[in-house]
Amino acid sequence: MTDIAVRIDNVKKRYGAVEILRGVSLDVSTAGFTAVTGKSGSGKSTLLGLISGLEQPDHGRVLVLGTDISGLPDEELAELRRRAIGIVFQGFNLIPSLSALENVLLPTAFVDKAAAASCRRRGMELLVQVGLSDRMHHRPAALSGGEQQRVAIARALINEPAMLLADEPTGNLDEATGAAVLDLLLGLGKDVGTTLLMVTHDRDIAAKADVIIEIKDGRIEA
Ligand SMILES: Nc1ncnc2c1ncn2[C@@H]1O[C@H](COP(=O)(O)OP(=O)(O)O)[C@@H](O)[C@H]1O
Ligand SMILES: [Mg+2]
Repeated sequence: MTDIAVRIDNVKKRYGAVEILRGVSLDVSTAGFTAVTGKSGSGKSTLLGLISGLEQPDHGRVLVLGTDISGLPDEELAELRRRAIGIVFQGFNLIPSLSALENVLLPTAFVDKAAAASCRRRGMELLVQVGLSDRMHHRPAALSGGEQQRVAIARALINEPAMLLADEPTGNLDEATGAAVLDLLLGLGKDVGTTLLMVTHDRDIAAKADVIIEIKDGRIEA
């Protein structure tokens, strides 16, 4: 197994007339916690979208856990995400018609019956860990923004991903909850060896990172 979780090689990405990423190259080590910072609109979420394969680069290559994802068929990409990548989206992306627990269990929808019971137990444990023991059967509309954020985090962790991509995961949380969630995310690196790549505005959080990547004017500031 390589010690590079993500390799981005001269990636360019534009939306319309605006080139958001203008030749970005970087390696993310499997070890530790990497923070991505930069002004609002600088392309942080775009970068996570490219790493998760939900967006395609206009130019350059993206390697995830040793696989060049640029040319992967959609099913293989989906399988890679399901197997190895947990994503906490900036906008949560919860399914409105499902309960918190059902949302958390979504990435396990393909497991067989024998595994389903242990997945369900793990989903409940994760919801307890993020402080939602009494909200498991609520739908997203009945949860606060911070509670939805925590459901999204539990969902990203259900498959014990090799890599967790988190987009401002504490952005909607009060200080105490944010600190608890951050501890949970950082603890994962130690417990299961999950690589954590987190977008954050928060200087105090970035200060805890092993590596800080700053996006500025479409490029990486070293
Ligand atoms: N799907 C899209 N279509 C058009 N413009 C987009 C799209 N996604 C992002 N953008 C634009 O690209 C820029 C970077 O967005 P984003 O990566 O979300 O920034 P950040 O996460 O750093 O705030 C913004 O100006 C945003 O409006
Ligand atoms: Mg963003």
